[in-house]
Amino acid sequence: MFDNREEVRAVKVAVIGTGTLGTTIAQVFSQCDRIGRVYICKGRQSSREGKEIVARALDILVDRKKMERQAADGYLEKIYDGDLDNAADVDFVIEAVAEDLDIKRMVFKGLESICKKECIFATNTSSLPIKEIADGMKRPLIGMHFFNPAPVMKLVEVIISATTPPGITEFVVSIAKDIGKTPIVVKEAPGFVVNRVLIPMINEAISIYAEGIASVEDIDIAMKLGANQPMGPLALGDLIGLDVVLAILNVMLRETGDNRYLPQPMLKKMVRERKLGRKTGEGFYKY
Ligand code: CAA
Repeated sequence: MFDNREEVRAVKVAVIGTGTLGTTIAQVFSQCDRIGRVYICKGRQSSREGKEIVARALDILVDRKKMERQAADGYLEKIYDGDLDNAADVDFVIEAVAEDLDIKRMVFKGLESICKKECIFATNTSSLPIKEIADGMKRPLIGMHFFNPAPVMKLVEVIISATTPPGITEFVVSIAKDIGKTPIVVKEAPGFVVNRVLIPMINEAISIYAEGIASVEDIDIAMKLGANQPMGPLALGDLIGLDVVLAILNVMLRETGDNRYLPQPMLKKMVRERKLGRKTGEGFYKY
């Protein structure tokens, strides 16, 4: 369907969601020459606010001399904010709203009645089973999982099920390459690949801290200097958002019944106290 390169060049994309990942995904798509237009559609914040967040991110790159002003303005011009109804003619939708099954289902229900029938639907879920999100949908759904911070992280997990049409997988793989990412195709499973490894590691680091074995700083230093990780697991939890870490563990626990995914009580307490990491100004560190 989309194997013709000309069609890939003209792709119009809608990003649904204006949180950390929604806005950075919109930014990444806007910076791709082969993408003609990016609609940013309402999530937690309005579309206008979402576009403003992208504008500020591009401004920072210009200030740091990583991008020419003219290029930044061009990318921003490609981004349209407005109602979802305006996105009726898009070729590809990527949903990046809250990690909540009901919200995601509601979004796709709305999209099915708005978007043209050839439009491909993808979800950026970090843990929810794609099949469950797609329950009741008339068209196939595929996972396209980005990593935080999306403009920097090179990987995209493309999550497929036994019923994903090969043409859709090919399209998402090709578009991931077009935006400068390295895609890997993963069969649907709790946590996919990266989160299945990464999230239990963060949970384990929390238990080390909760047991008083080492300080937050020293646990992070240990993993940076002893395992060459770019940032320590507790700082990474703060970057991802501790609510997201908890949600992923809960899904993995529910899906597998395996106690190794039991969230640490300290993690649950911090989430209850809204110490969610960078986004709320406090997690394991203060921001
Ligand atoms: N947006 C855009 N660019 C950013 C950025 C952001 N939010 N944060 C950092 N950068 C850029 C910087 O501008 C800098 O660019 P240059 O190299 O061109 O100068 C580069 O990234 C490096 O940044 P810094 O020098 O400020 O800091 P650093 O070297 O410590 O790198 C980091 C920061 C990229 C976040 C690095 O620490 C890192 O890779 N950490 C691990 C991140 C990770 O594991 N993410 C995956 C989380 S799991 C997930 O997201 C999935 C899920 O479902 C939960």
